[in-house]
Amino acid sequence: MKKKYALAALGLAGALALTGCGGGGAGSTPGAGSEGSADKGDMLIGVSMPTQTSERWIADGEAVEKGLEDAGYQVELQYAGDDIPTQGQQIDQMITKGADLLIIAAIDGTALSSQLDAAAAANIPVISYDRLIRDSEHVDFYVTFDNYKVGVQQATSLLTGLGVLDADGKETGEKGPFNVELFAGSLDDNNAHFFWQGAIDTLKPYMDEGVIAVPSGQTEIEQAAILRWQQETAQKRMEDLLTSTYGNGTKLDGVLSPYDGLSRGIITALQGTGGLGASIADGLPVVSGQDAEIASVTLIDQGVQFASIFKDTRKLAEQSVIVAESMLDGDEPEANDTETYDNGVKVVPSHLLQSDIVYADSITSLLVDSGYWTQAEVESGVAE
Ligand code: BGC
Repeated sequence: MKKKYALAALGLAGALALTGCGGGGAGSTPGAGSEGSADKGDMLIGVSMPTQTSERWIADGEAVEKGLEDAGYQVELQYAGDDIPTQGQQIDQMITKGADLLIIAAIDGTALSSQLDAAAAANIPVISYDRLIRDSEHVDFYVTFDNYKVGVQQATSLLTGLGVLDADGKETGEKGPFNVELFAGSLDDNNAHFFWQGAIDTLKPYMDEGVIAVPSGQTEIEQAAILRWQQETAQKRMEDLLTSTYGNGTKLDGVLSPYDGLSRGIITALQGTGGLGASIADGLPVVSGQDAEIASVTLIDQGVQFASIFKDTRKLAEQSVIVAESMLDGDEPEANDTETYDNGVKVVPSHLLQSDIVYADSITSLLVDSGYWTQAEVESGVAE
């Protein structure tokens, strides 16, 4: 594969393809299928996903598996239960089995260097899926969403819920001050930093003007971060904040939450003080989110959670299949961003997809009409 890339850079790939000099057949050595001439049915693609505790990763795994199988490849799909050593072992096994390509959504973006070294030694290309793998030169391509923009959208939804921005994103002149608390994702997930930066850059002017205050004073990502994106940890932090900062009757107006699972933990903590079933109309703070998980979409529909971010994982899966096919054909996959994602060793060529804010009034157009969730699922809060 590496050789093929170098040749492509010299403009020789087309000539090779014409003469059919693709290289060895699949199965002769690990990664040999990546030379381009092997039968797809003999090629194995390893897909490593972080966890099944969140809906999106199950959907991602299944969609990538189906897309690759429909394209004719063999697939080994593994979930690592959010356990870093397990993910390392699963990837090691995929390499030993002779995988021709790996698609990896890392738990800890910095923990896979030895696996990527082994993959490179066996000529196995690696696609980093959704989350950037850091500190390795052997990440060949990155498929993801515009993660900075996701953070901007999260903060925008919060500002909209507070009435600082109107539905068109224009300032209303509302000066607050609004009391807000900030949550971030898992620090070992590169995305968490992009979401945070996008959100903070958006909120900062309002914080500087005094429209937004953070009464706890916890404005650093290290203070706001939730290890492994755990719902219970977010609930606990919100309970602690309520006790430490809001026990004296100070009103909490909004919470920046970067993921629906955390949002539900936060809402549970908030409802502990406001009574079960409390909604924004009853004075529950505005809470943002991400992933359009069905339980949260239902809460948005009911006016309990304010918004989420819809990242169409079907499109991400489809994109990863396109990139995988192109690599295995010996072509250079098409990047639409070659500047943003520096993994500490190199800038990884990326394909970024766009996301949308989901409010109560856009559930139908974004999620139901596109077939992501059915109306019945939105009503029940349970995926069928
Ligand atoms: C993903 C988000 C997800 C989070 C927690 C991030 O890397 O980009 O979509 O909410 O992980 O699973």
